[in-house]
Amino acid sequence: MLELEEVGFAAPEDPADEGSRVLTIVDGVSYTFEKGKFYGITGPNGGGKTSLAKLIMGINPATSGKITFEGEDITGLSITERARKGISYSFQNAARFKGITFRDLLSIAAGTDDEEKLTGIIARVGVCSMDFLDKPVDAKLSGGEIKKIELATTIARNPRIAIYDEPDTGIDLWTIGPMVDLLKREQQEYDTTTLVVSHNRAFLEVADVILLIRGGKIAYSGDFEGALPILSDLSVCGYGDTCEGESDAKCYR
Ligand SMILES: Nc1ncnc2c1ncn2[C@@H]1O[C@H](COP(=O)(O)OP(=O)(O)O)[C@@H](O)[C@H]1O
Ligand SMILES: [Mg+2]
Repeated sequence: MLELEEVGFAAPEDPADEGSRVLTIVDGVSYTFEKGKFYGITGPNGGGKTSLAKLIMGINPATSGKITFEGEDITGLSITERARKGISYSFQNAARFKGITFRDLLSIAAGTDDEEKLTGIIARVGVCSMDFLDKPVDAKLSGGEIKKIELATTIARNPRIAIYDEPDTGIDLWTIGPMVDLLKREQQEYDTTTLVVSHNRAFLEVADVILLIRGGKIAYSGDFEGALPILSDLSVCGYGDTCEGESDAKCYR
């Protein structure tokens, strides 16, 4: 239902210098994401995970190839147009806004300021408490709080495709389990095609498909068990034998 055909993204190494080397960041990726599945996207830092996710949302323009969503070519569509079609994106580094509260963000996302509906969304999301509602989404929030708020606003849009870029960044270990359960529940109850970029084993274990991105290409696609030997070869923590004897905290980041 979301089809990437030879999709590429190239950009100058230094955007301020026109003469700088052009880097191939996403290198002709072809892949079909099936409706209602949960994808765990992982791989080494700098491999191109965020860039690929941004290509799907239209934050990065594809410099080659074609993206089709439910039979329609969306390659040339803006972020807003893709959002209207039900594609939603939660940033690795969530934005902060002076003078805007969580209530404002949630109302915009849900398309209502009805108290009961907003309370219902917070209850459905579960990971953030009711007293978040009137908190300003500014620099005073912790990294973890802001990620939870972003997750809630993504879910409030009832997306058909939900993309979460490292949703566990800055989240305490006690919240990761409920967050994994939440995204899995949303996938299953609402048939949401879910793409989670993460190094966290807890997210990868519940995925229907693991995609390993390295050097701007899909180095592996398949189940978690099959991914383990490749993951343990990479110098990322937490997938294989190196974890033996380590605490979960260390192992799962
Ligand atoms: N707009 C851009 N211009 C130039 N280089 C970029 C741009 N976006 C990403 N990169 C580079 O592409 C590589 C892949 O980045 P990214 O997709 O963020 O990787 P990941 O999310 O897997 O860690 C990195 O080396 C990054 O610095
Ligand atoms: Mg990234």
